[in-house]
Amino acid sequence: MTALLAQPFKLPCGVTLPNRLCKAAMTEGLADPLLRATPRHATLYRRWSEGGAGLLITGNVMIDRRVLERPGNVAIDGNGGLDELRAWARAGTVAGNQLWMQISHAGRQSPRYVVSHPMGPSDVQLDLLGGYGRPRALTEDEILDFIQRFARVAVTARETGFTGVQIHSAHGYLLSSFLSPVTNRRTDAWGGSIQNRSRFLVEAVRATRKAVGADFPIAIKLNSDDFRKGGFTHEDCLQVVQILNGEGVDLLEISGGTYEQPRLLGFEGRAEDATPRRESTRLREAYFLEYAEAIRKVARMPLMVTGGFRTAAGMELALQGGAVDVIGLGRPLCTHPDVPKQLLSGAMQEAPAYEKQLVMARSGLLSPTSPVLLLKLINVLGGQGWYYHQLYRLADGKPPRLGLGVFGSFLRYWVAELGTAMKLRRDKIGAA
Ligand SMILES: Cc1cc2nc3c(=O)[nH]c(=O)nc-3n(C[C@H](O)[C@H](O)[C@H](O)COP(=O)(O)O)c2cc1C
Repeated sequence: MTALLAQPFKLPCGVTLPNRLCKAAMTEGLADPLLRATPRHATLYRRWSEGGAGLLITGNVMIDRRVLERPGNVAIDGNGGLDELRAWARAGTVAGNQLWMQISHAGRQSPRYVVSHPMGPSDVQLDLLGGYGRPRALTEDEILDFIQRFARVAVTARETGFTGVQIHSAHGYLLSSFLSPVTNRRTDAWGGSIQNRSRFLVEAVRATRKAVGADFPIAIKLNSDDFRKGGFTHEDCLQVVQILNGEGVDLLEISGGTYEQPRLLGFEGRAEDATPRRESTRLREAYFLEYAEAIRKVARMPLMVTGGFRTAAGMELALQGGAVDVIGLGRPLCTHPDVPKQLLSGAMQEAPAYEKQLVMARSGLLSPTSPVLLLKLINVLGGQGWYYHQLYRLADGKPPRLGLGVFGSFLRYWVAELGTAMKLRRDKIGAA
């Protein structure tokens, strides 16, 4: 049953993944006040390395200390911390797996309690109950600087023992927001046609490849669709994949959605802004598999799909169908770090799916489809907070705490995030 899942996979750069399971990127929120890795990263990643996935991808590591996705992000931006990165990389590779650093810029999706004026392609604000400031449109010099920063951070990843990088261009963060006509209203070479909207991503990949050499894995995380009216569409995605075909990408991870339409986690945002969900997607275990099937027809690089996969049979079928080469898993590994090992050995047929229980009510005002945005958000953030809390426990060497409720997790989430934000000491970091 698990024949393909357990098979190694050779990437275009020559590196071989020991099997087809990947722990997808999950922001850890474990950095110190100077945004450096800590021993908790090492504990967490040692557990995941021993858990059997052939590939581990870290959570967002930011290339710009000013604009974080969360206050507990690790950043690589003049803040030292190289020994801590080395300890993290050593622990995350103890079992001989690959460990790739996800490198990222949050763009306009940096909350007010982190930065009051974030940055984006244009000054289009993220409208989520006032939680995000109006972004400032980047100048061309800043874009060129960020392209070099992606490359520099990738070199640091390589030098400190990470075995690859993933450039985050999904979920509405900076590179992803350049791809979308809703957030990118530029009229210069970085906006307008899909060639222009994808220029930042393509240049970041080129600079990174040039800096790290031909034998170091570079992956990209890309939305199959933003699911937002007037936004980055599936047709845009297919074009971007074709543009990326010649760029030496080792693995393209397919996801979807943004903070406004959090389909990456199986949720929907405001109905009036959304494009409809396809019925065939609703019926499938993995959220983006049918998109991957279309992408496969134009892609020349290996593909990975993340989101919703839970059963060994579903994963095996997706591999056999030929649409994907690697299966990404997120939430199940927050409570059970050895899920990959168990799926591969056949000891587990279905990974846990606590997210299905993590709703305040199945229907009515308190449900995840509530017409009241605040209540819908409590469900999404409470569920997310539940998983963050489990990650903290794994990082402290403790077992998961499965009995936490959604509302309690929501409250804990805010206390932890605001507490971490208050401790940040970015002003103490030397020149960027
Ligand atoms: C706690 C948590 C943190 C996440 N952080 C990130 C992140 O830093 N970068 C990223 O690309 N995706 C992030 N994601 C999305 C996951 O990589 C993945 O796409 C999503 O969880 C769907 O996969 P799953 O259904 O197997 O959980 C996060 C998801 C969760 C639950």
